[in-house]
Amino acid sequence: MFSHLFTPITVGGITLKNRITMAPLYLGYAGPGGAVSPLLLYHYRLMAQSGAAMIVVEGSTVDHTLGSGSDRTIRADTDDNLEGLGRLARTIQKEGALACLQINHAGRFAGVAEPVAPFGVETFGKLPRALTSQEIDRIADRFAQAASRAKKAGFDMVELHGGTGYLLSQFVSPHTNKRDDDYGGSLENRIKFPLMVLSRVKSAVGDFPVGYRFLADEWLPDGLTLQESVPFAEALEKAGIAYISVMGGTYESFFIPEMVEKCKAVAYMADLAAAVKNKVQVPVITAGRIKNGTVAEQVIADGKADLVGLARVLMCDPEWPKKVGEGREQEITHCDETCPDACTQLVMKGKPAYCSRWSPKKVRQYKALFQ
Ligand SMILES: Cc1cc2nc3c(=O)[nH]c(=O)nc-3n(C[C@H](O)[C@H](O)[C@H](O)COP(=O)(O)O)c2cc1C
Repeated sequence: MFSHLFTPITVGGITLKNRITMAPLYLGYAGPGGAVSPLLLYHYRLMAQSGAAMIVVEGSTVDHTLGSGSDRTIRADTDDNLEGLGRLARTIQKEGALACLQINHAGRFAGVAEPVAPFGVETFGKLPRALTSQEIDRIADRFAQAASRAKKAGFDMVELHGGTGYLLSQFVSPHTNKRDDDYGGSLENRIKFPLMVLSRVKSAVGDFPVGYRFLADEWLPDGLTLQESVPFAEALEKAGIAYISVMGGTYESFFIPEMVEKCKAVAYMADLAAAVKNKVQVPVITAGRIKNGTVAEQVIADGKADLVGLARVLMCDPEWPKKVGEGREQEITHCDETCPDACTQLVMKGKPAYCSRWSPKKVRQYKALFQ
């Protein structure tokens, strides 16, 4: 019935058993200081048992001091976490899924007293400090070191977080990058930093797939749009990216009422993915309220994307892939517009996120493991 969705695909030389991936989803489950905690392992085991072909683990920091979203952001910047990262990768792989680690620098959205950014553009009342070119160079090395650590820990792939308005996308965006040196101005200059990061990462990890979470449109009046992001996607492909996982919006646009409405729609980012897919050959992933198998199948059959990414959708019902595969999609518990995005609200308050659709027993199980 779902002939596209359950057809294997090769990504960066590795075969995925179907077109279903878990899109990265930070839920605040790491231990204090970004350690791999029992709750994190419990949660990712469940996600991997779902039957999704690949689990992309949430944004993990390349710099705990300056680049973490919170103290609960997984640390990928220290060998102290190597053993934990290894356990996380093995936990996922043991359930028959591929494990991919997303690595990130939050830049102006870091949960730190003095955030850094490409330029001093006010960010929720704070003025971030503009990075020097030496610092930019060191951050590129940090991405390379974190990617090496992911490989050493046993992950199958690594994903650079160029979405949600974090540092990589802050360089690409005309809204946040107003530098007048080699990293600012023209699109060619603004994409220099993410391409440099990709190049350093690839040199560090060798024959190991590197994917990209890709901001296609900031949904801001003076922000990045498809006009500039699509040529950037083409440049990523030329530079050897393994896949492009497309998204829209940043923390500055997510909460604009018009955008809140837009994001309630089923498959609300599929058209952005389609615009990218139209210009590249590498596999493209789309996420965003992929409600059921029928929607996922259609998106792929229509050529809008090659794979789907389920984030809140899979957290809400980890049996989504099984139910779809077994012809029981009417039994899916839906993450939909009738929930006030409870998980996001909890995360924004610095709390661990539980799903409003979970049974009280399941919430108790999660709470019992939280440290
Ligand atoms: C609470 C929350 C945390 C998220 N964390 C990440 C993250 O760590 N990295 C990332 O690339 N996207 C992150 N996202 C975006 C998701 O990957 C996804 O694109 C989005 O939630 C839409 O898919 P969904 O409707 O299945 O949730 C997050 C989204 C939410 C709501």
